[in-house]
Order: sequence, then structure tokens, then C-alpha cells
Amino acid sequence: MAAAKLQVPRGTFDVLPPDGERRRALDAAAAEILGRAGYAAVETPVFEDTALFARGVGESTDIVQKEMFTFEDKGGRSLTLRPEATAGVCRAYVEHGMHKLAQPVKLWCSGPFFRHEAPQAGRYRQFAQIDAEALGSDDPALDAELILLLAELLEGHGVAARLRLSSLGDAETRRGYGDELRAFLREQESRLSVEVRGRLEQNPLRAFDSDHPGTRAVMAGAPRLIDRLEPEDAAHFADVRALLDEAGCEYEVDSGLVRGLDYYTRTVFEFESPALGAQSGVGGGGRYDGLVETLGGPPTPGVGWAAGVERILLAGGATAAGAAPSLAYVAVAKPERARQAFAIARTLRRAGVRTELEQAGRSMKGQMKHADRLGADWVVIVGDELELKDMAGGDQRVVGERDLVEAVSR
Ligand code: HAM
Repeated sequence: MAAAKLQVPRGTFDVLPPDGERRRALDAAAAEILGRAGYAAVETPVFEDTALFARGVGESTDIVQKEMFTFEDKGGRSLTLRPEATAGVCRAYVEHGMHKLAQPVKLWCSGPFFRHEAPQAGRYRQFAQIDAEALGSDDPALDAELILLLAELLEGHGVAARLRLSSLGDAETRRGYGDELRAFLREQESRLSVEVRGRLEQNPLRAFDSDHPGTRAVMAGAPRLIDRLEPEDAAHFADVRALLDEAGCEYEVDSGLVRGLDYYTRTVFEFESPALGAQSGVGGGGRYDGLVETLGGPPTPGVGWAAGVERILLAGGATAAGAAPSLAYVAVAKPERARQAFAIARTLRRAGVRTELEQAGRSMKGQMKHADRLGADWVVIVGDELELKDMAGGDQRVVGERDLVEAVSR
């Protein structure tokens, strides 16, 4: 009996060629753009103590309430596959005493993240993020810098995205506003969706996110947090905006912008691409001036963003790949020459030449066809003599083994 075929778990996917290269190219572009602005690469574990996310991301969020992949290890510790990067980066900042370094500390990372969400186009249970964080300064220039760096990354990958921007003020403003909004919503409770009513106590702001018609009608007249900012927070937001304006970065101030994480203070933003349909958020972030302290560190402001790799590649479509370096194909004219061909391919590769070698026992005719299919610029025919065929011009000549590297490097 044939064994049953196995498939990837729900909400996950295999990365197949040519997507593997596209993902690496995106990572390389992020390294380049962020590296130029002083962001250094870090890596944190893919799983952490569950408490880190419960405390960091926030107990009332969908992520913590419904979406975490949590398990017990053999020692009975509760661990969770990271649903996002910021909490882990802040934990590392505290754990390694990075507050003693010159501030701000600018870090970036990329890798897999895990959320148990209902899968659909652009929404997966394992996805990749590129994440950038700046810790240790509340300078609005950091907020603006980070937004512009993400805009540059998206633009470079052909993603036309709309930028929504808002400010949440500090924790106290948010609390006061939460009470005001809750009282406002209670007065019109019968018009609200069941879900929003259920969340009224814990997170009334979520009502802005609802697509329920009754709720939307109520929200149109709701008080706005942006009108309740303390003068200092309003001035901070004005500075961020002025820097974006001067840089010619277009955005829309949207005080109904709700982010799905609890740690935000002051600036919040999201880039949305209409090309993505329902899951339109391609990248987003904001300031989290209380998070490091929540995680047991000294009071430390911070700001950052994360962008979804799959969503960038979906929204950007096919971007023109740079011209590939020329390709040599080493053909084996006689089976007894296979070892020599193997050695020649190795020599060429070590000399920096992109080289394919016949490794499937094809006939000479089959090999030439295959070389053509691969787009080879040169075919090195290893027989009793060594011959070099120029695939573009068509001419073929005998060549010495020592002259080969130079001949195919032209
Ligand atoms: P987030 O908005 O939850 O923010 O996620 C950032 C991006 O990750 C989203 O815009 C989206 O592109 C991608 N993403 C999220 N969930 C999924 C999913 N299930 N499938 C595919 N892509 C997804 C954060 O994670 C914050 N840590 C960002 C941040 C950094 N804030 C401050 N610093």
C-alpha cells in the first residue's frame, strides 16, 4: 500500500524557486537600506517565555487572546512561538544592558513569525517580517526616519502604498480617552455589533476597526483621541509630520487607525496597499515609550515597525531582477571525461564564474539543448580536446584549460 502523502500544515507554505531568491533579495535590500541609516542586525529566539508576549503585546489583544502558538517544554515551562519581534528585541535590550550603550540603539532583524489566524490570501500562520527598532530616544526624527526607511523599502519593491498616520498620546491620555469613548459607546450600545459590545470594557478603541454598519455610523460621531493629546504629545506629533512633509512623504492623518498591539504610545502608522485586498496592511508600527519598562527595564522610549515579506512580494508583483552574471555550462562529451569536467566546473566556480555542470547523463545533443534552456553564455565541451562554444555568436574553438577562466570571464 502506498504511504499517504503529507502536506504542509494549514496556513503555512513552501518557498519554491524563484521565490527563494526574491525573498533573499528583499532581505538584502533591507540590510542595505537600514544598514546605511545605522541599524545593526540582531537575531532573537523564535520561541520565548509566554509571559514576554502576554506582558509585552498585551493581554487584551487578539494576538495574546487567540493567536499564539503556546506549548509546554519538557521542563513544564510555558513557551510561545514569537508572534512579533518588538517584545523579544526589547527583552534583549534589557537583558544585555544595552541602555548603557550610546543611545539610540538601532536594531533590525528578519525571520519567521507565528500567529494562529484564519488563513487567507496574504494571511498565514507562519509568515516572515522585516523589523526595525530604535531604542533609547524619543526624538521625533527617529519616528520620521523609520517611516521614510520603510517607504523606501516598499518603493524599491514596486509597492504603491498609502500611509496612515496618527498619534495615541501617552498611556494616561489613552486611559482617559478610553473612559470617554466607553461612556460614549455605552449611550448607543444597541447600535453596536456584538463583538464591539463584548470588547467595550477591555478595548473600546477596537470599535474604530469594525466594518459593522451600525458601529461605523456610531463611530463617525465618536470623540477622537487626536483631539485629546497633551501639548507635549501634540508637539511631538507636529514635529514628526513636519519632517515627513519636508521629505515630501505623503500621508493621511487618520485618528481611527487602530494597531493590533497594546504597547503603542504617541506615533502610530500603517502602510496599506490596495493590491492586497482584505489584508491590506503591508507594514506598520509606532512608538512604544513604556514597553521596555513593562518588561522590567529602565524607562526607555522606543519606536519601530515591521513589514510582512509575503505581502511586500504580493503587492509589489514581479520586480525586474538585475542582470544575472554570465553562465558557463560544462558539457561532458565522453563519459570517461566526467571527472575532468567536474574539476573544470570547480575551478571556474572558485574563480567566480557562475557554472552549471552536466549531471544527468544526457546525450551531447541533450546537453546543448539543456545549456540553451538554462541561458548559458558559454558551453565548455570536455572531450579529447577542450572546446569553448560562444552561445550568442555561435563560434566554437579549441581552448587550453589554463585559458578557460579568462575566456569565459569576458
Ligand atoms: P503588525 O502590524 O502586527 O506589527 O505586523 C506587521 C506586518 O506583518 C503587517 O503589516 C503584515 O504585513 C505582516 N503580518 C502580520 N500578520 C501576518 C500574517 N498572519 N500573515 C502574513 N503577514 C502578516 C507588528 O508585528 C509590530 N511588532 C510592529 C512594530 C515594530 N511596532 C513597533 N515596532
